Amino acid sequence: MRVRVFQSEAEAASAVADRIAAALRQKPSLVLGLPTGRTPMPLYRELAARCRRGEVDFSRASTFNLDEFAGVEPEEPGSFRAFMERHLFREVNLAPERIHFLDGAAASPAQACERYEEELRAAGGIDLLLLGIGGNGHVAFNEPADGLLARTHVTKLSRETRTANAPLFGDDPMKVPLQALTMGMGTILQARALLLMAFGAGKAQVVRQMREGPVTPRLPASFLQLHPDVDVVLDAAAAGG
Ligand code: PGA
Repeated sequence: MRVRVFQSEAEAASAVADRIAAALRQKPSLVLGLPTGRTPMPLYRELAARCRRGEVDFSRASTFNLDEFAGVEPEEPGSFRAFMERHLFREVNLAPERIHFLDGAAASPAQACERYEEELRAAGGIDLLLLGIGGNGHVAFNEPADGLLARTHVTKLSRETRTANAPLFGDDPMKVPLQALTMGMGTILQARALLLMAFGAGKAQVVRQMREGPVTPRLPASFLQLHPDVDVVLDAAAAGG
C-alpha cells in the first residue's frame, strides 16, 4: 500500500482529482468505481468544479457504484443513487447510459447482483476503484464477519453502519434499511487499481489496523493488503497526527 498524507481533506481531494483527470486523459473510456459517504464529498465537489471549467471530461467514461440499500427506489432521497445524483452525476458530463448502479428496488436482489457482475465483465472490469472505509473496517458494505462473500451479493447491515447512515434517513437509524446490495471483496480486489480515502481522527485506528494488522474478515479493509496497486490517501488526522 502506498500511503499519502495531506494537511487537509481539500488538498487530498485535489490530489485524487489530479489522478482521475490524468487517468481520463490517458484513457477517455475509463471505468471508475465510486463510493458514497461523507469522505468522497470534497472530491466530488472538486471534480464538478473542474468539469464546469472544462478541465476534466467524463463523456466517454463509465462508472460503477459500490453499493445500494435494499428495498429503496433510486429516486428516494435516502438512496445512494440519489446521493450520487446530488453530489456528482448531475454536476459532470457522464453519459447516463454509462452510469451503473445496483438496483436496490429489484424484485430479485440476488439477480440484480448477478446482473451487476455481468455488466462489470461487459465493461472490461474497473480501471480505478475509489473506496472509503467504515469505522468498523468495512469497505463498500462488506461488514466484519466470520467470512466474506467474494462476489456482489445481498448483505445485512451492522447496527454501526445503520447509525452512520442515519443522516440519509432523517437521522433515524431505525429507518435505515436492514439490508443492502454490495460488491464483494473479490469483485473489489479485481479492480486494476484501488484508491482508499480516509479523513478525520475517528478513522486513524481503523486505518492503522487495515495497514498493519492481520488480513482478516473481522476487518474487511485488511484484504486490500493483498492487492498489488493500492493508494491510501489520508489527511493528517486519519494518519494519526
Ligand atoms: P464515510 O463512510 O465516508 O461517511 O465515513 C465510509 C464508509 O462507510 O465506507
